Amino acid sequence: MKITENVRKKETSFHDWKERDLWTGEYEKDEEYVSYVKDILEHPVFKSMDHFIQHGHTTCKMHCIQVSYLSYKICKKHGWDFIAAARGGLLHDLFLYDWHTHARDTGNHFHGFTHPRTAMNNAILYFNINKKEQEIILRHMWPLTPTPPTTMAGMAIVFADKYCSLAEVGGRIRQWCTFNLKFRKVA
Ligand SMILES: [Fe+2]
Ligand SMILES: [Fe+2]
Repeated sequence: MKITENVRKKETSFHDWKERDLWTGEYEKDEEYVSYVKDILEHPVFKSMDHFIQHGHTTCKMHCIQVSYLSYKICKKHGWDFIAAARGGLLHDLFLYDWHTHARDTGNHFHGFTHPRTAMNNAILYFNINKKEQEIILRHMWPLTPTPPTTMAGMAIVFADKYCSLAEVGGRIRQWCTFNLKFRKVA
C-alpha cells in the first residue's frame, strides 16, 4: 500500500514538473502573439517537430515555442522587432530530424554548426519569412558559429535559446534527482 502511494506521488510529481516546465503556457492565450504566428503554429511541418526531443523531455516544437515567446516578450519590452523574434524563434530549430541519432544515421557529426542553415532552408521552403527572420535563424547559434546576429531581435533569440536550453536540461536533472534521491530512497 505504501509503495503504491509512493508510486502515485512520484507520478504526480513528474506531472507537476512537466506542467511547470511549460512556463510559457500562456502563449496560447496571448491573442496578439498568436496573430503574428498562427500560420506557423498550425502548419503540419511545424507540428511535426513534436516527434523530436530537443532537451530533457522538451520536444523541438515546444522548445521553439518557448524561445519564440520569451524573445517576443523581451523585444516587446525593449521596443525591438517582436514579430521577427516571434517568427524566427518558432523556426530557429526547424532542422526536422532527431539530432540524438543524426550523427550515427548520416555521418554528420557537426549538427551544432550545420543545423542553423538546415533550419533556415526548411523555413524558406515551407514558410513565408523575410530576410531578417532568415538571418535570425541562421545566426542563432552564435558564438558557437562565428557570425553574430546584426539585429536586437536576433540577439534576443540567441539569449532566449541559451536560457531555455539550460532550463530544459536543468529541469531534467532536477527531475532525475527528485526520483533518485527522494522516491527511490522511500520505496
Ligand atoms: Fe539551434
Ligand atoms: Fe534552440
